[in-house]
Amino acid sequence: MPDASPAIIPPAPVVHSRELSTLRLALTSIRNSLEIWPESAFELRFSRNRVLGVENVLINDPEGIRHVMTTNAMNYVRPTIMPRLLRPLMGRGVFLAEGKEWRRQRRQLASVFSPASVSTLLPHFLSAAEDLAQDVRSRKAVDLSDAYQSVALNAVLRALFSLPDRQDRDRVGAVVRQYIDGPGRPQIFDGIAKSETAFGFALRHRRAFQKNWVALVDSLVAERSAAPYPVASRDLLDLLLAARDPETEQPLAPEEVRDQAATMIFAGYETTARLLFWATYLLTLDKTEQSRIRAEVTAFPVDQVSTLKDLENWPRLRNVLLEALRLYPPVPMLVREPVNDDTIMGEPVRRGVQIYVAPWVMHRHRAFWDAPTAFRPDRFSDQPSPWTAGGPYLPFGAGPRICIGAVFALAEAQIVLATLLARYRVSLDDPRPVLPVGRLTTQPSHSPEFTLAAVSV
Ligand code: HEM
Repeated sequence: MPDASPAIIPPAPVVHSRELSTLRLALTSIRNSLEIWPESAFELRFSRNRVLGVENVLINDPEGIRHVMTTNAMNYVRPTIMPRLLRPLMGRGVFLAEGKEWRRQRRQLASVFSPASVSTLLPHFLSAAEDLAQDVRSRKAVDLSDAYQSVALNAVLRALFSLPDRQDRDRVGAVVRQYIDGPGRPQIFDGIAKSETAFGFALRHRRAFQKNWVALVDSLVAERSAAPYPVASRDLLDLLLAARDPETEQPLAPEEVRDQAATMIFAGYETTARLLFWATYLLTLDKTEQSRIRAEVTAFPVDQVSTLKDLENWPRLRNVLLEALRLYPPVPMLVREPVNDDTIMGEPVRRGVQIYVAPWVMHRHRAFWDAPTAFRPDRFSDQPSPWTAGGPYLPFGAGPRICIGAVFALAEAQIVLATLLARYRVSLDDPRPVLPVGRLTTQPSHSPEFTLAAVSV
């Protein structure tokens, strides 16, 4: 049924009438990568340009994207900057693995993230959501950007290690944030390095961090393995220890278990926190939709959730999350480099060129969406998992390297939002628009205080 509400156009950076000059492009992309795009990016299917001697290709065509991410995926690798920035956090885990090694790890992890496994993790999401509800209780104004970072970290650590100890959680959160704000910030050397280890002097602080981080995650694994917490449900560590390669029956080695756990913490928490933030922000702009969702989660209360199937009782909430992922994709840009020369959509691309697949642009492309800038959750009605349909919707990437945690993230986000909205009317008194800022993830331009008014029952 079409949405009868007037169109709500949520804030977005200005789109330039023509391409930026090289200098402005370089400066703007450091400040906010979402501000670099000209009008033509939202209309063309393939474009290329050269910035500071490096050739860049933007692909906006589902066929072209399928070629890079699926059909010929083995010819495309993540650029060197990714392992330089992420190896200290993710080690040899699946996110940074390539080739045969990646295929083996992905096979071993498939069962860990199957819908049946995620269903067993729901009690952890329910506990994390309840912690959030307790934290915001009797606080009238709440910085939800911060609160969602905490709840998403809480959820992933509970799901991984059944970690109920708040001090441990805070310690992990502080260490990860310290990396992101410190040695993990991209430097000029990362942009020009030809290998993961080039400019070794610039990697000193990252190596020092990695030693501490590995010791911390090892200690969490050891603590959990030695003295299992008295929980009724399983956690991801149980699933990782039980995982076998379906082809060889091989289990994960202990350091692989550690690196996969570290990968899940980082890949899973910041992204889901951003999704929660933008979905809530959109619901403060569309109060009617917020009320409809409240009715939905009141009709099927959170405490009745025990399986993934139960979440189907909240279709509107799911559509809002899908629309938030469209309008504000937490990962706004994916970059690949061809290992060998190739041809995409009839166009030659040379080895080493930077290939951009930008969910931010695809999700607002005028050839693929009706009213692309409008908030219209109903556009996802009756589409159970549009991110796997091979179309212009790519919040979780595409092809064999598509996000392994998509079902996990959506289930967690549904439970957290349902818990909050069942108890509070959320609004924003601050009149300043919250603009998306593109860094590694899509962050809010500022962290407003949301007003939470208890719903009378
Ligand atoms: C809203 C939340 C999330 C979003 C938007 C998101 C998005 C993405 C995207 C776009 C990719 C592909 C990156 C690329 O191709 O370069 C990816 C990969 C990945 N994600 Fe997520 N993610 C989310 C949540 C999670 C969660 C909760 C986990 C685990 C607990 C997770 C684990 C991973 C892993 C391990 C990969 C690498 C997969 C591979 O290379 O085979 N993600 N994610």
